[in-house]
Amino acid sequence: MASLQSSFTARPTIPTTRIPPSQLAVTKRSVVSCSGGGVDRRNMLLGLGGLYGATSLVPGQKAEASPILPPDLSTCDPKGAWTTKGSEVVVLDVNCCPPYTDVQTDYKLPRVTKPRVRPAAHRISKEYQAKYELAIKKMRELDVTDPDDPRGFTQQANIHCAYCNGPYDQIGFPGIDLQVHNSWIFFAFHRWYLYFYERIMGELIGDPTFALPYWNWDNPRGMQMPPAFDNEKSPLWDINRDPTHRPPALVTLTITNPPVTDPVQIVANNLTQMYKEMIGDVESAIDFMGDPYSAGNAPPARASGGSSEGGSHAGVHVWTGNPNNSNREDMGNFYSAGRDPLFYSHHANVDRMWTIWKDIPADYSKDIEDADFKDAAFMFYDEKKNLVRVKVADCLDHRKMGYKYEHSDTPWMAYRPAQRAVPVDIKKLSKNANRPDKLFPLKLNKTVRVLVPKPSKGAADEVLVLEKIVADSTKLIRFDVFVNDEDDKPQELDRAEYLGGFTQVPHRARAQESASDLRLNLKELYENINIGDDDSIVVTIVPHINGDEVTIGGIKIIPRVAA
Ligand code: C2O
Repeated sequence: MASLQSSFTARPTIPTTRIPPSQLAVTKRSVVSCSGGGVDRRNMLLGLGGLYGATSLVPGQKAEASPILPPDLSTCDPKGAWTTKGSEVVVLDVNCCPPYTDVQTDYKLPRVTKPRVRPAAHRISKEYQAKYELAIKKMRELDVTDPDDPRGFTQQANIHCAYCNGPYDQIGFPGIDLQVHNSWIFFAFHRWYLYFYERIMGELIGDPTFALPYWNWDNPRGMQMPPAFDNEKSPLWDINRDPTHRPPALVTLTITNPPVTDPVQIVANNLTQMYKEMIGDVESAIDFMGDPYSAGNAPPARASGGSSEGGSHAGVHVWTGNPNNSNREDMGNFYSAGRDPLFYSHHANVDRMWTIWKDIPADYSKDIEDADFKDAAFMFYDEKKNLVRVKVADCLDHRKMGYKYEHSDTPWMAYRPAQRAVPVDIKKLSKNANRPDKLFPLKLNKTVRVLVPKPSKGAADEVLVLEKIVADSTKLIRFDVFVNDEDDKPQELDRAEYLGGFTQVPHRARAQESASDLRLNLKELYENINIGDDDSIVVTIVPHINGDEVTIGGIKIIPRVAA
């Protein structure tokens, strides 16, 4: 890594501004109460995702499978985007609702003649960059000349706000937000969003093959903000970014506090994170894609999201947004993220990760057959301003949608952490660890070590569950989890002992998000730490940002139910 990295200069990043702790009681937040933890992954494997969802007590829930339906635009709440300041609910000064029309059709994918090729943003030519700038300039002009044109820059940005900060209720479930994050519909929603965004750009510049550049943050050569975006005169510029993160600052896919400043360590952490969220930590399609989410379910909480969504995806959002803004606008909050042109290139790479993951050989199936997944639907305006309904099932093969990605190397594929030679002395290590019965429920205001019993000895196929995590959804949250860690170097994630982390991008939901269980697969970690035949492990939980906003209900290790 050092050689790839040598041209980057070390540049210290400024510690994240801490948001003052909120006094907001979780129980006061909502009108809808909801029982217990996240959707049990086993239900989905039995094809019962809709039946035994997290929200079986929500009034009006039907027992049959029922996919998320596209929103009813006529009921979009113009004052529906909220956040909080301290204990106060603050309605954001933004109307995210799209222009209304009742003419809508089911979208049919047009036949592909010549695929669009999405290039890596850090190596686009001057000519390509000029085209891209022209497209965004034309979108921005529409904001002024025809603010009701759904293809305008602000209208497009507001799509993201409308689908994740509360303006839409689910059809048939008044008071329950439609939320496209933290579940298995995450990838599909954003794929469709980019699909139309790209077609709109092509339409506005009269080039039907124009393709959105992707921010190649998974490769060391793409780990800076792509140069095209770092020009104050360009339509691609956005003032609401972290001013300390302009090139040559390196993106950190995982956030630690204090931040890592050594560029070699940043790259090592990033590649480790990529390896884990794409390969090492993933034992099923649900692990990668996210938990089931069906009609009537309360908005899923962060722990229900897939490994990629909660990992690199969330990390880049937080890294890009300005910590000096009250809601970390633009990229650091879902309501404003779409206002930064970088958002779309970021999500092009998130989408590229979906395509790459699908092709990585694995001993589990990459497909989700549940009808609640495939029939989930959304509403978009196409490049001709038609309101169209789209289904998840129709976006599962991106090639049929007429685009592909220019190749870029994926060095993270071979970045599994090195194995420990000998197991740790668990007796010795557990001397400084707490017993779980005394510790929970736990407010995560400092680093904790817990001795957790295993259901079976040694390197079994097991899952660590942090139970009933409650975290204020309007707050940035970050913590990490290590196992049998003697060294206590929470900034070095490229070690055998690093299990995984939790990043929550702030957003606001009207209905309370359910407490959810964070599940971290232990199978590969046991091999990495060379666990021997121990019957317990010491888990270290390290809060980095706003740990005092997090409560963890319990901790346990369970056998993983194989797909
Ligand atoms: Cu809709 Cu990156 O979030």
